[in-house]
Amino acid sequence: MRRLFALPRFLRLVRVLPPLAGLALLGGCWLDGPQSTFDVSGPVARAQLNLFYVTLGVTAFIFVTVGSVLAYATLRFRARTEADEHAAPPPQGHGNFFVEVSLVSASVLCLVIIAVPTLKAIWFTYDVPAAEAKDAYEVTATGSQWWFRFEYPKEQINGVGPLVTANELVIPAGRPVHVDLRTLDVVHSFWVPKLAGKVDMIPNRPNHLWLEADHPGYFYGQCAEFCGDSHALMRFRVIALPAADFAAWVAHQEEPARVVTPAAVAAAQRQPKVTLASWHGPAGAALSGSPGFDADPFAAWQEKQVPDPADEDPRLIAEGRHLFQEKTCIACHTIRGHEGVGITGPDLTHVGARTTIAAGVLENTPQRMHDWISNPNHYKPGNKMYNGGFVDPATGQRLIQLNDGEINAIVAYLQSLK
Ligand code: CUA
Repeated sequence: MRRLFALPRFLRLVRVLPPLAGLALLGGCWLDGPQSTFDVSGPVARAQLNLFYVTLGVTAFIFVTVGSVLAYATLRFRARTEADEHAAPPPQGHGNFFVEVSLVSASVLCLVIIAVPTLKAIWFTYDVPAAEAKDAYEVTATGSQWWFRFEYPKEQINGVGPLVTANELVIPAGRPVHVDLRTLDVVHSFWVPKLAGKVDMIPNRPNHLWLEADHPGYFYGQCAEFCGDSHALMRFRVIALPAADFAAWVAHQEEPARVVTPAAVAAAQRQPKVTLASWHGPAGAALSGSPGFDADPFAAWQEKQVPDPADEDPRLIAEGRHLFQEKTCIACHTIRGHEGVGITGPDLTHVGARTTIAAGVLENTPQRMHDWISNPNHYKPGNKMYNGGFVDPATGQRLIQLNDGEINAIVAYLQSLK
């Protein structure tokens, strides 16, 4: 008998899965990570999570009920003796009206219990509810191998067009945001797990989603559809700000790129360092620097908004600006108010104020930016800055040469663009 219940050897591994799952739950590593869909921060993600719980509840009920009956029947009616094994089968029935009607009704009831909240969630998550539509903020997100462009159509800059940023989407907290989804090349997918489920960006087909952040914060997002070599390295961030801070951020982003002159540095050094009081976390919390980035990325983002003249060398920055033109970076990147006409790569007008570079892959520190420019293909295989920028993909010939000193100057320049 024991052999009847013994699992084949290769299936015995299955027995370690439940304890492992339990440990993962206890450790909390699954439930509250930066991209956990169980730790939601907005109404869209919450509706989706609640639907998951309803479905999980119904299916768990069916699993336990059917499993219990199966286990009971297996144990209760098993062959206990040699004679049982050779006994004639018991009298065979041909259905029981009560049992059949009950099973069909119960199945239909389970489906209805799942269907009603599913339909409600589909309608709710499709677009901003009509009552709030007038208050909705609009942005356009465009996927590209392998980064995200964010446009703010309501924020028109005279003679330029809409405000454009890259890889860090700043939104007002507590306000619905309608996101138009576009792609420049292949299918990508826009996913901010704590704010809203994934929706695809499809060539030649306008798509959209909406999301809302309950509170100010820093949220992790990523492309969720395989889109080529560096799909896994196509990430982004969403930063939700209180209304007044969001307005201040937009006003600052609309300004042309910052110019660092010796006089400006000297003047700034005489001034007390600017702090954005309302952007701080809990009272007294210190803004974390680079080592604390993971511990408090929102504070790190706030700190990145403020120039630190003590770290700025106007001569080096001016040299970097010159190299940015001479080495043809301007062909792919725009720095509004300075030089640059390119739209192939991210807009860099305020790149120094972002917490990440290379589409959320590297923290935006001078060292990491130096690493990135030194060897972009190492950090993001197949990217256009390397293939077609630094190197001709057809011949393998190096098109742009940068030595260490030149990269330092370019980094100083880009970091100054707060
Ligand atoms: Cu874009 Cu995966």
